[in-house]
Amino acid sequence: MKKGRRLWPLGFLLVCLSLVLFGCGTGGSENAGKKEEGTASEGGETKKLIVGTDATYAPMESMDSSGNIVGIDIDIVKAIAEEVGVEVEFKNIGWEPLFPAVKNGEVDFAVSSITITDDRKKEFDFTEPYYIAKQVILVPEDSDITKFKDLKDKKVSVQINTTGHEVVKGLLGNTNSNIIAAETMPLAIEEMLNGNADTSVGDNSVVNEYLKNNPDKKLKVIEDDSFEKEYYGLMVKKGNQEIIDLLNEGIEKIKENGKLKEITGFDVE
Ligand code: ARG
Repeated sequence: MKKGRRLWPLGFLLVCLSLVLFGCGTGGSENAGKKEEGTASEGGETKKLIVGTDATYAPMESMDSSGNIVGIDIDIVKAIAEEVGVEVEFKNIGWEPLFPAVKNGEVDFAVSSITITDDRKKEFDFTEPYYIAKQVILVPEDSDITKFKDLKDKKVSVQINTTGHEVVKGLLGNTNSNIIAAETMPLAIEEMLNGNADTSVGDNSVVNEYLKNNPDKKLKVIEDDSFEKEYYGLMVKKGNQEIIDLLNEGIEKIKENGKLKEITGFDVE
């Protein structure tokens, strides 16, 4: 009993000390978590940016079996972040909700194989291009389709509001009911496998990856010269010049030091 009582002041001291330490820690992390829009955090803390994506787009962005967001786009953003000394946290937002999420500041920017288009540039800002892509046509091996024009009277599935959707609308007409616009690219491909569509149109990297991983589905990919080159950019809320500058600085660096090529396997002209 006596011994216990004598130890009491020491215990009290320890509690006080840990309160002080804990207090400091909390203060620090509160500060780090505070998001002042468009401003780099001051005072030597690492700025953390929230990055939105649609993780249904392997090999560019997808969920691995343990629930991590992974892919070429993700590696690119991590490399950029490392070059400019910021932290990044990825959020799987989905394709259509991604655009309002950038607008309303839920995320600081988006990476999602997003093609820089004039229409999108009216509403968002984009970084310099970091990747080149093209649309391709996915069909069953025994399909009679050989070129894009052959899709005119076919049922075509696409991911909604993508550049693939746009090119198909260009050929079939905006309101043609033969266009099946799915929420994700895998769902668009499924529509074709189910027989609801004759063909799917989408970005080359993703369609080719699907072909490679699903030899049993007996599909083939058709390229067509009428498809224009597309350039992917990181998408930022309009007017957020600070983030654009920061990301462009990182892109410039990973282009120069070869990291971008290391990740993608090719140069972006
Ligand atoms: N590149 C196309 C576009 O910008 C498709 C991108 C879709 N990306 C995705 N993660 N689902 O419209």
